[in-house]
Amino acid sequence: MISIKSVSHSYSNALRISFKDWEINNGDQWLLLGESGSGKTTLLHILTGILKPEEGEVNMDGTSVYSLSSRALDQFRGRNIGIIFQRPHLIKSLTIKENLLLAQSFAKLPENPERINEVLHSLGIIEKKDAYPNELSQGQLQRVSIARAVINKPALLIADEPTSSLDDKNAIAVLNLLVEQSGLNQATLIVATHDKRVKDAFTNTYEL
Ligand SMILES: Nc1ncnc2c1ncn2[C@@H]1O[C@H](COP(=O)(O)OP(=O)(O)OP(=O)(O)O)[C@@H](O)[C@H]1O
Ligand SMILES: [Mg+2]
Repeated sequence: MISIKSVSHSYSNALRISFKDWEINNGDQWLLLGESGSGKTTLLHILTGILKPEEGEVNMDGTSVYSLSSRALDQFRGRNIGIIFQRPHLIKSLTIKENLLLAQSFAKLPENPERINEVLHSLGIIEKKDAYPNELSQGQLQRVSIARAVINKPALLIADEPTSSLDDKNAIAVLNLLVEQSGLNQATLIVATHDKRVKDAFTNTYEL
């Protein structure tokens, strides 16, 4: 379970953002809703150990996230949390497979080519395994982002605005992939968006 309690944050000179308490059970699928600028990305960064809030507690399965040393936190993140960024963070000089091998080694996990095949296959991009990022379409790159996020079977899968730049058909396809991948990997899923089109796909919503 993940919980945040009495969390608030303000960037320098900016208004303080207070976040209502939130308890997320393992395997839940949540939509994080809020207008542009309301603090969705900030909250995701707080949840994922990227941004220490000025006040409050973040707990993940009994671990107080911000009590870890920065090295321990990096490893914790690499093993337990998969983040899907709006634009994929891939290394251009490495193939898709090599990028995924790197994600395994960042988490100090053994290289597991079978797992890479399994994930690329489930996302329908296995034939792109040995291609370089600039040889893929935007939609295929977004699937690689998802692959990179789930490769280490994280307990928590997070996506920040995964559909905002997509047309209706692709927005639904990406959401379906996220829901399917979180199910396959038994991961908790949190999707931040201001995209009203995706509201119906989720039963749990946290609004800012
Ligand atoms: N690094 C930063 N330094 C200062 N202020 C910031 C920083 N990052 C965000 N903010 C401010 O904090 C507030 C919340 O920003 P945040 O990015 O969390 O919003 P958001 O809900 O993700 O918006 P969007 O839907 O546009 O992505 C905004 O007012 C923003 O200007
Ligand atoms: Mg944002």
